[in-house]
Amino acid sequence: MTTGSSTHSDTRTATAPSSVPLPPVVQIEPTSRCNLKCVGCAHRHRTGRLTDIPFERVKALLDELRGRTTEIIFSGIGEPLLNRQLAGLLAYAKRSPSFHTTIASNFMLMDGRALEELYPLVDKVICSLDAADPETFEAVRPGAKFHTVRENLERFLDDDARNGWKKYVSISTLVVDRNAGEIYKIYQLIKDWHISRFHVALCYTADEYEHKPETIRRFIRDTGRIRSEGPSFSFTSLGGKYCAPLDASCRPDASCTVPWRYAYVSSRLYVLPCCLALQSSDATTHETDYSMGHLEQSTFSEIWNGPKYHSFRERLAAKQFPPVCQPCYQFWDPCCQ
Ligand SMILES: C[S@@+](CC[C@H](N)C(=O)[O-])C[C@H]1O[C@@H](n2cnc3c(N)ncnc32)[C@H](O)[C@@H]1O
Ligand code: SF4
Repeated sequence: MTTGSSTHSDTRTATAPSSVPLPPVVQIEPTSRCNLKCVGCAHRHRTGRLTDIPFERVKALLDELRGRTTEIIFSGIGEPLLNRQLAGLLAYAKRSPSFHTTIASNFMLMDGRALEELYPLVDKVICSLDAADPETFEAVRPGAKFHTVRENLERFLDDDARNGWKKYVSISTLVVDRNAGEIYKIYQLIKDWHISRFHVALCYTADEYEHKPETIRRFIRDTGRIRSEGPSFSFTSLGGKYCAPLDASCRPDASCTVPWRYAYVSSRLYVLPCCLALQSSDATTHETDYSMGHLEQSTFSEIWNGPKYHSFRERLAAKQFPPVCQPCYQFWDPCCQ
């Protein structure tokens, strides 16, 4: 997911625990509602009231982050374009030129009108594309239509080409068994589109999804082939969960700086130290179990430098990782990063 796009500076040793500078990257979940039911996504495990984030709270949060945070990612476990106030949220962020804005979308709703509204307000756009073949695409993204997504994406790219390629456009592919044979085909499509950012990840929902060995072999083979042809493409590292069975030297050697440089704000206003807490079949309980605080009760700064966040960071620095971290590649030896 999106934490990988953030800066890698490590503030742990340089900063006293009582005052960690506000994070350079904050992910804000515009809504927990979704129009699809993708295989592997934890969205289907989210229960309770699925809701859009309150606009006024985001404004207050952006005011607090202004001048310190540089990247705002409007995305989460849900489809951002379902929030009718998405353009308003982006416009509010864009009142400050120092904010770089990102959205991630399934592109089903990125029609001509949405494009006109959102295009000027985003710097980076991530489109999820899990297959190049319509039948496979629609099997792994139930509710989506391949031709709609393709048409919407091509309209976006045409507009961007007319504007002199101003936007950072990236394709994100989530690999499960059913679409493992699609990785290289998607790569061929995105070369035709002149997109140079391709992010491929094995589904890392911790507890429920196991890939077949042939899926992992295919992932290694095809991402290796693409890397040799187009070195600028990026892939989420394999991660020890997959690497360790193939390579005996791969050991857990956790080292993670995410809670020093990134925070996730859920649409229900919980502040979480990592997006991975929600990518689980226990997404609903994790939202409160891993919450560092709630924005109706405290400001972001109070939460960020509050006792819960500090003790979470201390545990991570002492390599006491909670179970939710285990599928993440940061948890493992650098051999698989
Ligand atoms: C959660 S979605 C939210 C934005 C939007 N609804 C979409 O589909 O792009 C953001 C990205 O996370 C990916 N994702 C979903 N479940 C995942 C999982 N279990 N492991 C890794 N990535 C996952 C999706 O494929 C998508 O590219
Ligand atoms: S990957 Fe995106 S579109 Fe698919 S179910 Fe999850 S949040 Fe919805």
